[in-house]
Amino acid sequence: MVDFKAISSEAFPTNFLWGGATAANQLEGAWRKDGKGPSIADALPGGKQRLTFASSKDFNGQIDEKRYQYPNHRGIEHYQRFKEDIKLFAEMGFKCYRFSIAWSRIFPQGDEIEPNEAGLKFYDQLIDECLKYQIEPVITISHYELPLNLVKNYGGWKNRQLITFYERFAKVVLQRYKQKVRYWMTFNEINSAFHFPIMSQGLMPSNGSNDYTNIFQAWHNQFVASALAVKFGHQVNLNLQIGCMILYATSYAVDANPKNQWANLKQIQDFNFFCTDVQVRGEYPASTARIFHDYQVDSQRLKITEQDLQLLKKYPVDYIGFSYYMSSVTDVTHQDTVKSAGNLIGGVSNQFLQTSDWGWQIDPTGLRIALNELYGRYQKPLFIVENGLGAFDKLTTDHKIHDNYRIDYLKKHIHAMAKAVADGVNLMGYTPWGCIDLVSASTGQMSKRYGFIYVDLDDNGKGSLQRIPKDSFYWYQKVIESNGKGV
Ligand code: BG6
Repeated sequence: MVDFKAISSEAFPTNFLWGGATAANQLEGAWRKDGKGPSIADALPGGKQRLTFASSKDFNGQIDEKRYQYPNHRGIEHYQRFKEDIKLFAEMGFKCYRFSIAWSRIFPQGDEIEPNEAGLKFYDQLIDECLKYQIEPVITISHYELPLNLVKNYGGWKNRQLITFYERFAKVVLQRYKQKVRYWMTFNEINSAFHFPIMSQGLMPSNGSNDYTNIFQAWHNQFVASALAVKFGHQVNLNLQIGCMILYATSYAVDANPKNQWANLKQIQDFNFFCTDVQVRGEYPASTARIFHDYQVDSQRLKITEQDLQLLKKYPVDYIGFSYYMSSVTDVTHQDTVKSAGNLIGGVSNQFLQTSDWGWQIDPTGLRIALNELYGRYQKPLFIVENGLGAFDKLTTDHKIHDNYRIDYLKKHIHAMAKAVADGVNLMGYTPWGCIDLVSASTGQMSKRYGFIYVDLDDNGKGSLQRIPKDSFYWYQKVIESNGKGV
């Protein structure tokens, strides 16, 4: 007789990948160095309204340094200081480090035939520096960093030519790092285009971001591109693990009214599962017709070939990477509900939850639910590649940061993960977001800090850039050392 109770344990596996996560455009800086071309992120000015502005008709992708500030251009100068930063990650005991490769460092305009060797040299060094400390690199191939030329002159991902450009880029990096890097992800938060197609698909109003047919076409092209990367990755090294990456938002109906329950189920099918179903199961889900109808997608205009569908079926991803910051609430029956804020999502305010300084609803149990839902549906290994608390930090006169609020947030989420592991979920690892303070994606602020390491830089670009470990740095060190027991 199998004793199922004995199998259940909250212990993390011994090879659990504890680490941290960043994205090139948010920390490297050096936006024009060594031949790098501009990316969409380089064209987004700082400020709380950056995403609203980027989705408006006023945004045309021009970089106007006289009028706006562009915090991504400098980042935290990780390009120059990566050795110091990786050393600090090693001190925390990182088993892995998730970062992205800036596409426009390798192909400055996105459409060249030959890669930029100087750009590749930087990643050669970065990867070697990680390996020097036995830190396993985890690479996102594309993280909101589409070369600007592909946005302005090709119309972003709705243009099928981008599949060829991405394939070329992915092949160069997979080929070059196939013996050094085992874990990859094809696109960051691919489903985020439901709300802001500018960052992940390069669709602005002038190239049709207000028409869902374009967004779904862009997704299809990205699905094909992702499958081609999986195909090539496995060809060059069968051990490579290539995952998708979605923004997962646990979603609750506001009450037991079947109308709210149904609306909530649709929200989950559309936002959490549509892209994931295609990338993991290799097929468009049964809900596709309903979704196309709801978003008024003109399927006659979509270009999806039989050959594409075969490719998707043949090359699904190996694991599911996802970000989790908050949950949301669906309410379609009350008129005057209070709205909550969110990174790319939002929703109705949940009276049972507290919020972050930026109004994001904190919900560790929502993470346990997410893990159970994802694993129950797909039975593929899961990797939490982003989670964390964006907060204002205060540097004390004796150069310390007492971020007990961050420790509290992470602690509760790690407890929820442990419970999910005992629930039977196959969880590979955990890389909290912005392990070193960096530029916020949704607001361009430096003051929205996630890191275990403080970076002395303010929203106006002033500061010494000095790196200072916060209290959470020493706490996380213990968490890793004890494989999650010392939380
Ligand atoms: C995710 C992105 O949406 O959330 C990251 O993948 C981003 O790039 C992170 O930085 C946190 O969001 P924000 O807006 O607080 O930086």
